[in-house]
Amino acid sequence: MPNPSNTESLEARIAAAFQGVRQPRPKQIRPIVVIGAGGIVRAAHLPAYEKAGFPVIGLMDQDGNKAAALASERHIPRSFGSLVEAVRFAPRDAIFDVAVPASQLVHILPQLPDSATVLIQKPMGETLQEARVIRDLCRSKSFIAAVNFSLRYSPNNLAVIALASSGLLGEIHDIEVQTRTYTPWHLWTFLATAPRLEILYHSIHYFDLIRSWLGNPQGVYARTVKNPHTANLAATKTIAILDYGNSKRVFVATNHNHNFGPEHQHSFVQWEGLNGSARITMGVNLDYPIGKPDTAEYAERGSDSPHWRSVPVGGNNFPDAFMGTMGALQCFAEGSVSTLPSHFEDAFQTMALIEALYYSSEVPSEPLSFD
Ligand SMILES: NC(=O)c1ccc[n+]([C@@H]2O[C@H](COP(=O)([O-])OP(=O)(O)OC[C@H]3O[C@@H](n4cnc5c(N)ncnc54)[C@H](O)[C@@H]3O)[C@@H](O)[C@H]2O)c1
Repeated sequence: MPNPSNTESLEARIAAAFQGVRQPRPKQIRPIVVIGAGGIVRAAHLPAYEKAGFPVIGLMDQDGNKAAALASERHIPRSFGSLVEAVRFAPRDAIFDVAVPASQLVHILPQLPDSATVLIQKPMGETLQEARVIRDLCRSKSFIAAVNFSLRYSPNNLAVIALASSGLLGEIHDIEVQTRTYTPWHLWTFLATAPRLEILYHSIHYFDLIRSWLGNPQGVYARTVKNPHTANLAATKTIAILDYGNSKRVFVATNHNHNFGPEHQHSFVQWEGLNGSARITMGVNLDYPIGKPDTAEYAERGSDSPHWRSVPVGGNNFPDAFMGTMGALQCFAEGSVSTLPSHFEDAFQTMALIEALYYSSEVPSEPLSFD
């Protein structure tokens, strides 16, 4: 039931909840050197940094021509086809923003200077074993490093955090994530041979987001399967249950091959709490990478005629969330905040969850008995 002592209207309480919702922003903005000039850098990193006023001073890609073309298009002063040159050019206070296929991280990170500040695109390697190597590299080189779990900083997730912080959700006992869409996997040539695909490269955002809300689950049940239309790719459809005990239901269900028009495509996260429920739509998944607008809605529990109302969302995952991951790292590096939510040590735990999901998918299901 709504708190009867609370005489404020729900609108006023929602408005109050949103005061102060903003992406983290450092006091001293530092220059950025981007490693990788691929699709995500073009669609999200560079537009985010331009919007935030974070200067990108250099862009490197193993394909030097690609780096040069994108640098010229986006007015980035320097481009490189060699990592050694990019590192030599980078000033001491540069942030290295590494956005390459996960398999490349173990080759790139050892070449960055000791004590560097590094933002690493997800996933943190392709297996838990690689994640361990990356974690140990980050430790031994004394990096200040985060993994780019951008969904945590998506403005609609920040909106739901604000609702929760104001008590409008109450204790969360149910989270469901559903994505039924058409994802153009061919855009990522490196995925053609990736042994792990959907959970590792896409749903990892959902699993990391759930961890950010509920912590680590006790265990998982999962099945990730291939789509017959893309039989050459690893599994692209997933159903997973996260075990948080007997009074919480948490699941992720994804199908990236629903190529039947937009009518029944959807992509959302829904939270149910003792006081209310929230739902966000993840527009970027509905027309990747252009995307549709992100939304957030809220419904209060216990009112006479409960209904969903839109709540304000200050932007979209692409590019705004990328202002958040970079801003949070810079704030932590300068010491203006004491925590870094997507710190590599925390990201390693998300990788442990991903590993458990793949293991679970290999476990035989319970056979039927007709005795
Ligand atoms: N956080 C998010 O929402 C999000 C979204 C999409 C992609 N990503 C991640 O970003 C990474 C890159 O994805 P993308 O969409 O840009 O892929 P992409 O294939 O479009 O681009 C990858 C780029 O990396 C370059 N590259 C590969 N190996 C390199 C190396 N050793 N040194 C320098 N450059 C190298 C390639 O030449 C290419 O230009 C992936 O790991 C992916 O998981 C994250």
